[in-house]
Amino acid sequence: MHILIVNGPNLNRLGKRETEIYGTTTLADIEKRLKKKFPDQEFEFYQSNSEGAIIDKLQHAADGAFEGVIINPAAYAHYSYAIRDALAALQVPVVEVHLTNVHAREKFRHVSITASACKGVIAGFGPVSYELAVRFLVEK
Ligand code: DQA
Repeated sequence: MHILIVNGPNLNRLGKRETEIYGTTTLADIEKRLKKKFPDQEFEFYQSNSEGAIIDKLQHAADGAFEGVIINPAAYAHYSYAIRDALAALQVPVVEVHLTNVHAREKFRHVSITASACKGVIAGFGPVSYELAVRFLVEK
């Protein structure tokens, strides 16, 4: 299965960023672990700090390049109607993931605008959130 994994703003700083919240695992570590855990799947990893660039990537996915999409929209989850619309236009299943349990954090994180365009949301399991999302896409 060809799976696109999109990571939004500041996730390129994982490992250095607010480590008391996000831990010391880097995005590269997460990607390496996914490839190791799911050797039969084909992944494309994409990270951008820019809303427009993420939408461009999702539009590319809408043209049939992937069979499933996993997205951690980061803060964009909480306010990007444009990313939500780009996700809604996809024909393939999309899973939203968050490293942290956004519901146990600040109030503004309790709302996800993007979640309504996804099959489901996995939040709070650190890097394992991504693995659970891959499991769903592979097993569904
Ligand atoms: C996050 C949660 C968001 O609220 C935050 O803005 C992030 C990371 C997570 O993975 O826990 O940047 O998406």
